[in-house]
Amino acid sequence: MERTFLMLKPDAIQRGLVGEVIGRFEKKGFKLVGLKLIQVDRALAEEHYKEHKGKGFFEPTVQYIMSSPVVAMVWEGKNVVAIAREMMGATNPANANPGSIRGAYAMDISRNVIHGSDSVESAEREISLYFKPAEILHYAKAG
Ligand code: CMP
Repeated sequence: MERTFLMLKPDAIQRGLVGEVIGRFEKKGFKLVGLKLIQVDRALAEEHYKEHKGKGFFEPTVQYIMSSPVVAMVWEGKNVVAIAREMMGATNPANANPGSIRGAYAMDISRNVIHGSDSVESAEREISLYFKPAEILHYAKAG
């Protein structure tokens, strides 16, 4: 089954949006198979965003992700990578559909509530950065 990596960024935790955002994915019907609240260190932050190294927003983005805890998650389901991206909305909340997570809850591109993998390959890479295999659980989900 397809998996994606989703991360609630510091603004989501600071603003008390954790339950709200997780609830959207639960209600959609995806299966939560990995979950943790963590403090990201510089090595992990730089590895996560390495495709943006050299861009002007790289260092501020790395600093931001280290500034306060984040919620790292693995979700499972059919087409979960693409559907989760749709549910998140555009990276810049100013361009995000108002029904999407960023459209509903964010105003600022650097404080855009949530990160989600952009492909199945990125999902595999990002899941392995944040989770050991034993931290991804296998269970039967009702419904
Ligand atoms: P994310 O999907 O986590 O991937 C890279 C992040 O960099 C992005 O969300 C934004 O939060 C942040 N960012 C800040 N400025 C920019 C920018 N100008 N373009 C793209 N991403 C940006």
